Amino acid sequence: MVNRDNLLGNNVEIKKFTLNNIGRFEHIEVSLAPSENSQSNVTVFVGNNGAGKTSLLKSLATSLSWFVSRIRSEKGNGSPIPELVIHNSKPSAAVDIEVFDKQIQVESSDEEKTDAIFYWTIAKVRKGRKGQHTTQLSDVTVLANHYRQLLSENDSARLPLIAFYPVERSVLDIPLKIRDKHSFLQLDGYDNSLNQGVDFRRFFEWFRDREDSENESGIPPEIYDSLVAILGKDHDVWESLGKMGASPRDRQLTAVRSAISHFMPGFSNLRVRRKPRLHMSIDKQGETFNVAQLSQGEKSLIALVGDIARRLAMMNPELENPLHGDGIVLIDEVDMHLHPKWQRCLIKQFTSTFPNCQFVLTTHSPLVISDSKDILAYLLDDGELKSLPSLFGLDANSVLLDVMDTDIRNAEIDTALKDLLDAIQEADLSRARVQLSSLEASLPSNNFELTKARLLLRKQELRCEKN
Ligand SMILES: Nc1ncnc2c1ncn2[C@@H]1O[C@H](COP(=O)(O)OP(=O)(O)O)[C@@H](O)[C@H]1O
Ligand SMILES: [Mg+2]
Repeated sequence: MVNRDNLLGNNVEIKKFTLNNIGRFEHIEVSLAPSENSQSNVTVFVGNNGAGKTSLLKSLATSLSWFVSRIRSEKGNGSPIPELVIHNSKPSAAVDIEVFDKQIQVESSDEEKTDAIFYWTIAKVRKGRKGQHTTQLSDVTVLANHYRQLLSENDSARLPLIAFYPVERSVLDIPLKIRDKHSFLQLDGYDNSLNQGVDFRRFFEWFRDREDSENESGIPPEIYDSLVAILGKDHDVWESLGKMGASPRDRQLTAVRSAISHFMPGFSNLRVRRKPRLHMSIDKQGETFNVAQLSQGEKSLIALVGDIARRLAMMNPELENPLHGDGIVLIDEVDMHLHPKWQRCLIKQFTSTFPNCQFVLTTHSPLVISDSKDILAYLLDDGELKSLPSLFGLDANSVLLDVMDTDIRNAEIDTALKDLLDAIQEADLSRARVQLSSLEASLPSNNFELTKARLLLRKQELRCEKN
């Protein structure tokens, strides 16, 4: 069978947004990838504490909440801008957004069709004040109408995932009991998607529900595995069984499991277990663990990736691979709790696992962007936005060096680090590597200076290879 899913592409995309009097910003305009200069679906904001990263994402979430609520019902209301967020001393604030949708075409002047662009504004005026901003919602209503129309024509039409994962995203909150009655409709994929992000309770319930139906309609996995061993995967019997609806695995569960294995190599077979008491277990390199036993980083990645995958699966019931559903995903401090090794490949994992989602991410860690080309990276420094060169390189590194905080360290280490940087600068790669590994032995692997040095060394290595 030809897999057409990956030909679908992303439909809804934020082109740009503007904050007026929000948090520390009086006025800031931000364009997002994909754009002319960066073809990827990923925009990353790097910056120190207080730079304004969270304000950007929360504003986007506020703005998008109106889109989601109007898909859910015609006159639905999203979230308001909280009064605390209005820039001190200003009477009003507003978030403007520009979104386009490839499914909706309009005729431009020369009779060509172009993608329709939708603009809307959410404004908030302080109590008892007169502000200069007003809310404008007509475009978002039209855009949402389009999706309600699609759903009216086809019960299982695809919906865009819209989700925001704030820093306080809850991790693995496992219910002791689960409700018996469930409804998991497509639209329920939006439940809590913009206020709490990870909804592990719902994940758990949904997972169990799908597992039950997998067990009822399917071939038990052990039998499936032994049959595959005997007959091979290409045998005709699989097609006939597929026609009878007897798939060995539930497609949506498979999607979630494979997303997790993709992000965390060595992890497989996530499942719900009822004994000795209700829990979720997963195999890690052949050993079975209760997910509650995993490290904080492992838990948070399972929770995050599982949540995105579950929502996509719910919203795209007809896709052969639900992970190819489209949408917009905002993640604050994407590196939170993660080992540097995982941080480095995060972006690649996101874009390969969820190829049709637009990602807007923030991070403290330059590691997150160190290995990614083509992404749009911004440095947010003291409320000012600088775009980093699209091919991550020395310029970007030196910007990062200037801006990111320096760790407190002792003089000996300081000298060693200086020597390392000199060696890199002089392209004395072998000296640099020796110096780096000796520093790696005495500093924690996520040490900031080391991270920066690794980046610089890598860049220098690439340069030398080129010459
Ligand atoms: N209403 C406001 N008016 C002016 N500045 C604000 C307001 N609210 C927050 N800030 C500033 O914004 C900063 C927080 O921005 P935030 O987006 O949370 O940064 P980050 O996520 O990059 O750490 C605070 O340190 C504060 O200085
Ligand atoms: Mg923040």
